[in-house]
Amino acid sequence: MSEPRKILVTSALPYANGSIHLGHMVEYIQTDMWVRFQKHRGNQCTYVCADDAHGSAIMLRAEKEGITPEQLIANVQVEHSTDFADFLVEFDNFHSTHSQENRELSSQIYLKLRDAGHISQRSVTQYFDPDKQMFLADRFIKGTCPKCAAEDQYGDNCEKCGATYAPTELKNPKSAISGATPVLRDSQHFFFKLPDFQDMLKAWTRSGTLQDAVANKLAEWLDSGLQEWDISRDAPYFGFEIPGEPGKYFYVWLDAPIGYMASFKNLCARRPELDFDAYWGKDSTAELYHFIGKDIINFHALFWPAMLEGAGSRKPTAVNVHGYLTVNGQKMSKSRGTFVKARTYLDHLSPEYLRYYYASKLGRGVDDMDLNLDDFVQKVNSDLVGKVVNIASRCAGFIHKGNAGVMVAENAAPELTDAFLAAAPSIAEAYEARDFARAMREIMALADRANAFIAEKAPWALAKQEGKQAEVQAVCALGVNLFRQLVIFLKPVLPKLAADAEAFLNVAPLTWDDHKTLLANHGLNPFQALMSRIDPVKVQAMVDASREDLEASQAAAAPAGNGELTKDPLSPEIEFDAFAAVDLRVALIVKAEQVEGADKLLRLTLDIGDEQRNVFSGIKSAYPNPAELEGRLTMMIANLKPRKMRFGISEGMVMAAGPGGEEIYLLSPDSGAKPGQRIK
Ligand code: 2FM
Ligand code: ZN
Repeated sequence: MSEPRKILVTSALPYANGSIHLGHMVEYIQTDMWVRFQKHRGNQCTYVCADDAHGSAIMLRAEKEGITPEQLIANVQVEHSTDFADFLVEFDNFHSTHSQENRELSSQIYLKLRDAGHISQRSVTQYFDPDKQMFLADRFIKGTCPKCAAEDQYGDNCEKCGATYAPTELKNPKSAISGATPVLRDSQHFFFKLPDFQDMLKAWTRSGTLQDAVANKLAEWLDSGLQEWDISRDAPYFGFEIPGEPGKYFYVWLDAPIGYMASFKNLCARRPELDFDAYWGKDSTAELYHFIGKDIINFHALFWPAMLEGAGSRKPTAVNVHGYLTVNGQKMSKSRGTFVKARTYLDHLSPEYLRYYYASKLGRGVDDMDLNLDDFVQKVNSDLVGKVVNIASRCAGFIHKGNAGVMVAENAAPELTDAFLAAAPSIAEAYEARDFARAMREIMALADRANAFIAEKAPWALAKQEGKQAEVQAVCALGVNLFRQLVIFLKPVLPKLAADAEAFLNVAPLTWDDHKTLLANHGLNPFQALMSRIDPVKVQAMVDASREDLEASQAAAAPAGNGELTKDPLSPEIEFDAFAAVDLRVALIVKAEQVEGADKLLRLTLDIGDEQRNVFSGIKSAYPNPAELEGRLTMMIANLKPRKMRFGISEGMVMAAGPGGEEIYLLSPDSGAKPGQRIK
């Protein structure tokens, strides 16, 4: 037996200011399946992650919500951890970059880089918001495109004409935070001297550690010459202060990857078998893999290995890059209901359906992956329910009825068990190479063979014939054994199915090597349904609920920046006719009720004079006792096209203002207004 490998695996650290969605889940599911495969094989594999908690976006969001950044990131950490756990993504540790370990490691690494001469400083001129008293990152500056004169464009590129430019080139620049006109100001910045590592990176990126497409992209950057990397930000900033440089903070991307180390270090404190230096020291023989999306290759395959090298640490064994998720062939879209949050999915569907579907589509490349919702239903139902679980459900009853639940020892088709055994190395190889799609194809080909065998033997027909009881038992025992093999092969993808199958099979948790043996003279537990078919109605309900999320967030839409009216690029100017076409009415709230199964919506019955309307409105968080709204007047758009929602048809929209959460304010006319009156 060879020594178990020591493997440390990470997924990219999600930002602590937003919810996890199905696009994120591609990476966490991919990584989790690979980690579970390694553990299944008996390797010492450790999977760490953390929330990426620093930066100005998090600082500003906390400010807007009226809480501290610490409170914000603590809330989000609970949400993220629960989402991951419910998707059966099993981290050994899920930490935070805003942690003591990360503070210490970030300082140590920075000081090592500085002492080795890899840090430079110089003055940088940047836009500064005189109201907020802070420097503005490019995305917090808006103005008129210097090339095509489109208004309301971000500080670094124009969404209309695609031009890229420096924020100082924007015409009529405004702070997107306060609306103030920014001024230019100088400040001292600290830079990591990436060009010092040019040769090392050229060799490292070509040493077989990266996918070809990734290595080629990096070669383009390396050939065009590397720039020094600005790693400092001025106060106010939510992050770590740079040692010895008051008022200067590490840029979030400096301490984010160090968060991988920090999460591992935090875990070492409670796992004596893990030694920090054995994994991160220069001479480490452990393997280190980062799983990331293709948008953050430069951080992981240039800056990060250079930082590690400069600080005297080991470099990653490989950086594994995946593509983006599309849904039904298009970018995820809130209005189409295909921007699905992890929680919304879990409210309607089992995590294993998505784990299997993603596995069936994930190769080792960086191509985008499509979640086609019809194909999703069809594939899961046909493969998992129709092929895999079906084998056990067809065989178990005969063993219970005919042999008191005991599997006989006779092997009814040694050629079949030999074929399963022979297939295992190739399936393992596919998993190891992250070619989950190939692994799933090979496993399903085995499932087809098992089903063909059972269909040919037809134990249900044999059971009706005299003297065929022994054959029925042999066929069904083999069926259950083949089912067990399939479960062993699928366990990294379907851990819950595996646990339920282990209970039915009456066996200890299965490991990969268990596929080399068969159960014989073995008593089974009663068979329970292991997986049910996906009902397409539930998929539709998930899509509807995702639209509901959008409607709720629109009803609670925050005003831009400081609340002053600024032009929103999504709301271009309209002609008077378009305004006049809107039928705005005074409405009396006759009834306001909770909607069963909806987190954010209330159902309002509105009297608009000549008729009553049913409207769903995303204001529940502000009005937890909806009855208090009854009898109150508000304003509604009465000629909005009715929209079919999961809970019924919404026939209009009421008007509210505020930043969201508890702060949503339903608009009301002055007293004296009558239901049905038009607002002009
Ligand atoms: O792109 C992102 O979502 C980042 N939060 C990923 C950070 S990964 C690591 F370097 F911390
Ligand atoms: Zn432009």
